[in-house]
Amino acid sequence: MSALEQEKERIAIVTGGASGIGLAAVERLLADGYRVIGADRNGEQLANLTQDKPEVAWRELDVSSQTEIDGFRQEVDSRFGCPHVVVNAAGIMQDNVPLDAMDMEEHDRIWDVNYRGSFLMCRNFGLAMSALGRGVLINIASITALRPLPLFAYGPGKAAVVSMTESLAGHLGPSGVRVNAVAPGFVLTPPIKAKIEAGLRDAEDLSRSAALQRMVTPEEIAEAIAFLVSDRAAAITGITLPVDAGWLAGSSWGTYGGLRVSEQTQDSRTRNQEGME
Ligand code: NAI
Repeated sequence: MSALEQEKERIAIVTGGASGIGLAAVERLLADGYRVIGADRNGEQLANLTQDKPEVAWRELDVSSQTEIDGFRQEVDSRFGCPHVVVNAAGIMQDNVPLDAMDMEEHDRIWDVNYRGSFLMCRNFGLAMSALGRGVLINIASITALRPLPLFAYGPGKAAVVSMTESLAGHLGPSGVRVNAVAPGFVLTPPIKAKIEAGLRDAEDLSRSAALQRMVTPEEIAEAIAFLVSDRAAAITGITLPVDAGWLAGSSWGTYGGLRVSEQTQDSRTRNQEGME
C-alpha cells in the first residue's frame, strides 16, 4: 500500500480493547470507518475476539512494559503506518481497603498500568504523530481523579493521568497533535459487575449519587471518545471530559440529605405504575 493510500485509511489503536470501555471504543471506531488495532494483555480473551471480530487487528501487549511497547510501535509502524488515534483504555481497578491494609505491590502495579502504561503509549505514539503533524491521543481517567474517594492508589494515579494529558497537550499541540481525557463515572463493565456480584459494591449505591440516578454504559463512554477524536473536536485539547451521569454534580448532596426525586415526579411515577397494573 502506498503512503498516500495509507493516509486515506485512518488507523486507531485501542489498548484494553478486549473488554469493557476499550471494547466499546473498538466497536465505535470500527463503525466510524477506522482500521482498528486492539491491544490487550488478556491473551485468552484476544483468542476469542480474533474469531468473533476478525476485522480488528488484535495484539497481545502489556502497556506497562517499555520493551513491549517499543516492539508494538515498530510492528504498527511497518504494518499500518503511524496511527491517527490512540485510545488508552487499558487499566486495572482497586479494592476499597483501609489505608493500613494497602499492599504496596498492588499500589505500584496500579500506577504501572494506569499511569505509566498510558504515558508510555502517549510518548511513543505522540512523538511519531507529532513528526507527521497530526493525530489524537485519548486517555481514560476517572471521576476519582476529580473528587476524593478511598482509593489511595487508583485515585491519585488517575489524577496523574489528567495532569499528564494537560502537559502533553501543551507539548504536542504546536505540532498539531491533540491530547484529551475522558473521566467515566461508574460504568457497568466486567470488573464492576464482578464486584457487584461478589457483594463488594452495591449497584444502588453507585447510581444514587449520580444526578441522573444511574450508571453509565460503555457505549456512552465510546460516544465521547468518538467525538473527541473527530474533527468536530478540532479545537479541543488538554481537557478531561466527565461522562458520569451527573455523579460530579450529585456526589456532594449527601451533606444535605442526598439527591431526592421531587414529590411531583414521585406522584406521577406512582400514577403511571398504577395505570400499568
Ligand atoms: P475492563 O477490565 O473491562 O477492561 C480493561 C482491559 O484492560 C482488560 O481487557 C484488561 O485485560 C486490559 N489490561 C489490564 N492491564 C493491562 C495491561 N497491563 N496491558 C494491556 N491491557 C491491560 O475495565 P473497564 O471498566 O473497561 O476499564 C477501562 C478503563 O476505564 C480503565 O482505565 C479504568 O480505570 C477506567 N474506568 C473505568 C470505570 C468503570 O466504572 N468501569 C470508571 C472510571 C474509569
